[in-house]
Amino acid sequence: MSTEKDQNEVINGVARTSLFVAACRAIITNKYLELVQKKELNISDTLLKNHIDGMISKGHYMDLGEVNESIDYFNGSGKICIYDPYAYFFINTKDSQQLLIQTVKKHQFHEEKEKEGEKEGDKKSGSFFEYINSVPLLVSWTVVLSRSTLLRMAFRTKYIDDYVMNNCHSFEQLVICGAGLDARSKRLPIPASCRVYEIDLPHVVEYKLKMLEMANQYVDQVSQCQITMIADDLTQPSWIQKLKDNGYQSDKPTFWLLEGLVMYLSKSQLDFLFSTINQLSATKSKILVHTLTPGFVDNSTTTPTSPKSPNQLDWTLLKEEFISRHEDPIQEILIPNGFSKDTSSVTYRDLIDLYQFNNTPAFVKTSQTHFSIGTK
Ligand SMILES: C[S@@+](CC[C@H](N)C(=O)[O-])C[C@H]1O[C@@H](n2cnc3c(N)ncnc32)[C@H](O)[C@@H]1O
Repeated sequence: MSTEKDQNEVINGVARTSLFVAACRAIITNKYLELVQKKELNISDTLLKNHIDGMISKGHYMDLGEVNESIDYFNGSGKICIYDPYAYFFINTKDSQQLLIQTVKKHQFHEEKEKEGEKEGDKKSGSFFEYINSVPLLVSWTVVLSRSTLLRMAFRTKYIDDYVMNNCHSFEQLVICGAGLDARSKRLPIPASCRVYEIDLPHVVEYKLKMLEMANQYVDQVSQCQITMIADDLTQPSWIQKLKDNGYQSDKPTFWLLEGLVMYLSKSQLDFLFSTINQLSATKSKILVHTLTPGFVDNSTTTPTSPKSPNQLDWTLLKEEFISRHEDPIQEILIPNGFSKDTSSVTYRDLIDLYQFNNTPAFVKTSQTHFSIGTK
């Protein structure tokens, strides 16, 4: 049984970033539910169609109003970008609501301080809190997530989904470091031949397991792989033995995935993490690392998703957590840590070209994020 304190840990510090990501994926997924509901999208994939019909019939579709009007997540060929039915369950919780309220309060407190010096920050928040209590939680989340963030999250998730699917047949082990509320190991058709390890902080793993219990009642798992969750801090050596005790074999080529993690760790923590990954990796292992450049700025404040927004919060508060940035991740991370073969790196600009997304707004086309790949 978890205590009140344990439950709240997931909404504090770096752990809470996993909920922000899940909220984006839940909103993106809801778009497809809406289009199917309105019969504007005909899905040919039977499995996906069954999933979507199931979600709608069980009442897991929300009308998000203006948000869905303004965003198009389809690429040139009209294919679905990403579909993550688990995200809905990860964010439909009291913890998620508390995080949303806490985020708005904190943000407004910052704004007030800037304007008038130290003051109680939540005075002006009344109307927003009334709004939160009057609409489904998913709708409230749209108020604090900007259009550019949602689009970037769609491209990022799509690119990594495709990369995982193109490679998981060639690897017996996939290790997702800082997995958070990433549900790839369940929602993608990963074969039984590829065992997946997910590593994250204990309170995140505990939260995820609890919410998956709920989601499993409604969502059928698409993958066939064995999934092992390791609850530990990646900056401490203890995770290495836990991984091995759970069957990880360092003599087998492994696929490592680090999405949305590197920016939250310091240089010395990253040195430890990457040298450990190198030591644990046989020749032909592969790594995919997501990084931010030193010039990273989020200009999404100019593009609110919803006119109801009290403030466009977006990643402003998450940026407090960003510690590390990399101009050239191949030179700075991959090559020094043994992943020096077949290196490549793409930015959002490249992803937009790759997927031929039409009418993508200029603010999404930044090169300040890299997805870098290397082989040992
Ligand atoms: C922004 S979330 C990204 C989650 C997931 N990779 C995704 O993209 O959906 C960052 C995740 O990294 C995890 N994390 C940060 N520092 C960590 C550490 N020292 N050890 C383990 N996990 C960590 C957080 O708990 C959180 O779940």
